[in-house]
Amino acid sequence: MSEQQDAAGRLRQLRERIHHLDYRYYVLDDPEVEDAAYDALYRELKALEAAHPELGDPNSPTRRVGGTVLPAFASRPHRLAMYSLDNAMSEAEWLDFVTRAANKLEKEGLPFSRSFWVDPKFDGLALEIIYENGVYAGALTRGDGEVGEDVTENVRTVRNVPLDLRPQAAKAGLPVPALLEVRGEVVMTRQDFYELNERQRDQGGKVFANPRNAAAGSVRQLDSAVSASRPLTFFAYAVGAMDFGGAHTGFETHSAVMAGLRSLGLPVAGEGRVVAMDGVYPYFTAMGARRQELPFEIDGVVVKVDSLALQEALGFTGRAPRFALALKFPAHEAETVLEKIDVQVGRTGVLTPVAILEPVSLAGVTVSRATLHNEDEIRAKDLRQGDTVVVRRAGDVIPEVVRVVPEKRPPGAKEYVFPHSCPSCGSPAVRAPGEAAWRCVNLACPAMLRRGIAYFVSRSGLDIEGLGHKWVETLIDKGMVRTPADLFDLTEADLLPLERMAEKSAANFVAAVAAAKGKATLPRLIAALGIPQVGTRTARTLAGHFTDLDALGAATAEDLTALPDIGPEVARSIREFCDNAANRALLARFKAIGLWPVATPKPATPAQTTALTGKKFLFTGTLPDLSREKAQALVEAAGGRVVSAVSKKLDYLVAGAEPGSKLAKARDLGVTVLSPDEFHALLANTGLTIQTRKSLLDT
Ligand code: IVH
Repeated sequence: MSEQQDAAGRLRQLRERIHHLDYRYYVLDDPEVEDAAYDALYRELKALEAAHPELGDPNSPTRRVGGTVLPAFASRPHRLAMYSLDNAMSEAEWLDFVTRAANKLEKEGLPFSRSFWVDPKFDGLALEIIYENGVYAGALTRGDGEVGEDVTENVRTVRNVPLDLRPQAAKAGLPVPALLEVRGEVVMTRQDFYELNERQRDQGGKVFANPRNAAAGSVRQLDSAVSASRPLTFFAYAVGAMDFGGAHTGFETHSAVMAGLRSLGLPVAGEGRVVAMDGVYPYFTAMGARRQELPFEIDGVVVKVDSLALQEALGFTGRAPRFALALKFPAHEAETVLEKIDVQVGRTGVLTPVAILEPVSLAGVTVSRATLHNEDEIRAKDLRQGDTVVVRRAGDVIPEVVRVVPEKRPPGAKEYVFPHSCPSCGSPAVRAPGEAAWRCVNLACPAMLRRGIAYFVSRSGLDIEGLGHKWVETLIDKGMVRTPADLFDLTEADLLPLERMAEKSAANFVAAVAAAKGKATLPRLIAALGIPQVGTRTARTLAGHFTDLDALGAATAEDLTALPDIGPEVARSIREFCDNAANRALLARFKAIGLWPVATPKPATPAQTTALTGKKFLFTGTLPDLSREKAQALVEAAGGRVVSAVSKKLDYLVAGAEPGSKLAKARDLGVTVLSPDEFHALLANTGLTIQTRKSLLDT
């Protein structure tokens, strides 16, 4: 045998072997060999290809790294149109769909089996991947459904897209199709999305708004090496044109097609199944409940009539199949009217614009307000009162205004001018150079007082039970409370004349204030002061280094910046607070009435290296007797850090009861997993004294 033949044989062997190992790793999520063994094969293949450029193969595993740079995407027609789907937003709409299908089939004299394939509706970018004679031959985006963009080079780099179906076909005893168009969605898992954004942020690159944008943006790259560097995942959910060259494939149902695709080595999400008519809605509801657990984002489920004969009989309307329907989860986005922009005064005097919205239901919750952050944000989005806007629940909780719908702008809507005076007290507001916020600087501003005192008594502050916002407002309005110290002077006799204040509630009130004074710790009191930029975490740091508020007041900016996590800005803010005469008077009154806690012992600082110094932690599941906040405080006090996502760089994953998907991911990456007991044991081995640990847990 010639050397050339030898090389060709070895190349074929290596390519097939590596394709198979990729399949085990990326599709089955079940690696067959160690990374080192894989790397050795890969290196051998690369070396052999370099020595024999004439034996190149565009579908070699080495071509997954990309490198082709296009001037623009070419347009290419789909052999069969890629239809969109009709949506159902309620069970009634789903039942309407079934009725329409049943009527149509009855007219044709066909019995309706009412057997359905259901699977998740992936929130990504729709693709068609073309295989010719079992080999990857190209990929198109959906485009307008008739013509798509040719993204062949980029999709080749998606690791779980098989490039050669022949070995799997042989194993499954399936004929190799002369033509197979696989349709599906390319997505980015949430974990991959977070990690990509972290990298992009580090490198000053583009940060993506959500996994769908990240997936779509990564596929639509003219430089395929950029696509190759992005963590993309493909899921097949249907087929386009298919030609098994006359060979009978036995596909009579969509479920059989999906099983066939799986046998050919294509990635098919494990959630798909066949259900009867009465199983569709329960599947939809169950998927909705599991939505957050899935590693990728979905926005509903797709139902398809399982029988291919019935699919054909039902056919298509102009835009969508009559045999398939998307059941959508309630939108996290909705349109509504921005009735007006209100400006609120925060406890530190910051003027925060708030969107007052015509109430709208968003993922099952009625939303009537949304934060607008600051003046620049309003200007950037060009929000005007009366505009129709798109609102979204960000991170599943805080609603935010995404954008204006310009075509619905009422005529004459004027550009919004941010107020230059405090809406509460009318004194001039200031916007310092380099700052985004306008502030009211009148220390006696009633809105600031209200907020400040509400904060003082809240859980983040002294946690005075039963002293709600309403009472705080009343006491301020009546002039009975001007500073937090005034609360401690109130007697039952002072309170009783107030409307709706009974003897019992007055007594409870006074008792709650006295109790709060008794149990106030230094970190709590520092936090309660509401010093700008000093939250509970910084308050804990300060309380760990100063014995009382006098010592804090005497600290210079240099003393302060020497502490962990305190930068010049925070130090300046603390100094300003302590230098202010009104605040000095307040602290003097606290001392006089005996609200004067002294420090708890110092937590370990990074200077005292512990077993946890610099270590990265992440929690999943519930820890017995320990909230996430407290667990985080303990880790930080010992010099560790709590991060937000599992990566190879994570040192410990602490897994409590009912852990989430982070656990499997951590195990995959070989991250050390600790039980709650092991976590406590690790803490016990740090420089943290038991007393410090206790005091952290008490705060
Ligand atoms: S089936 C003829 N199944 O949703 C049936 N589509 O809103 C064609 N999509 O363009 C589609 N997940 O990009 C199907 N499991 C799924 C899907 C799915 C996401 C997308 C697809 C389609 C869009 C329609």
